[in-house]
Amino acid sequence: MERIVRLNDGYTMPMVGFGTYQMPRRITQQCVEQALETGYRHIDTAQCYGNEHEVGLAVKASGLKREDVFVTTKLWGAHGYGDTMRSIENSLRTIGLDYIDLFLIHEPSGDFISQYQAMEDARQMGLLRSIGVANFMEDNYLRLIKNCKVVPAVNQIETHVYRQQAKMHRLLAEHGTWHESWSPLACGQNGFFHDPVLKRIAEVHGKSIAQVGLRWLLQQGVDVIPKTTHRERMQENLDLFDFELTTEEMLDIKTLDTGRSQFGWW
Ligand SMILES: NC(=O)c1ccc[n+]([C@@H]2O[C@H](COP(=O)([O-])OP(=O)(O)OC[C@H]3O[C@@H](n4cnc5c(N)ncnc54)[C@H](OP(=O)(O)O)[C@@H]3O)[C@@H](O)[C@H]2O)c1
Repeated sequence: MERIVRLNDGYTMPMVGFGTYQMPRRITQQCVEQALETGYRHIDTAQCYGNEHEVGLAVKASGLKREDVFVTTKLWGAHGYGDTMRSIENSLRTIGLDYIDLFLIHEPSGDFISQYQAMEDARQMGLLRSIGVANFMEDNYLRLIKNCKVVPAVNQIETHVYRQQAKMHRLLAEHGTWHESWSPLACGQNGFFHDPVLKRIAEVHGKSIAQVGLRWLLQQGVDVIPKTTHRERMQENLDLFDFELTTEEMLDIKTLDTGRSQFGWW
């Protein structure tokens, strides 16, 4: 099992990242510093999380080399090309970095083709390394593919045992876009942390339910960005490489798919 994936543009991204959605600003710097100390080298933030600045402070305070930390942020509410370019520059200033490793359109709203064109140009200028999208389902994704020069490196979509996204996974693979999971622990919805199927499998391997849910995604070639504010869980969510689910266990987990969002979003 590889710990790093090579994206379609040649850049590499760690398969386990650290999410920061709904992480209060006042504790974000400390949590991200702890995550980096624990061994995470991939941090996921977004303009609309309001914590880009604290993520940047943590990366600086860690003393790690810039090239050793992979930082993702996401565009929110920009109108067209010029506004997107300003928004990218603003993210760079707020995070305090010279470039962003992965910049995503957070959701397909407004004129996303113009937003993406600005991202392609910002990439050319060296402000962004990899570019991609989030929450782009089939129709919007195919519309973008038909109208872009740079195939999105990543599509970050809701993916966990209860929403498995097998069809989107195949479509993305066909076009060379990497499938990244958001809410890989289903954010605890649908009784995730007490699920009897996951519990049985976890007991066999001497692992936790969270680890089984995350490992299941990794074994399908989907990277994960679990969020936690607890140090021991940071370690737990990273310790995914010393066990392997069998084909039968993978199939048992496949039966948990509900085929719909646990959040009523996309
Ligand atoms: N692109 C998008 O639209 C989008 C949408 C949603 C999320 N995301 C990204 O994806 C990341 C992850 O998604 P998420 O934060 O919604 O949900 P998640 O990572 O699936 O689950 C986080 C929840 O699980 C708890 N938890 C974490 N590890 C645990 C463990 N080992 N044992 C028990 N409980 C555990 C956390 O609580 P504690 O913090 O109390 O430990 C938190 O309540 C986000 O943080 C964000 O970066 C992106």
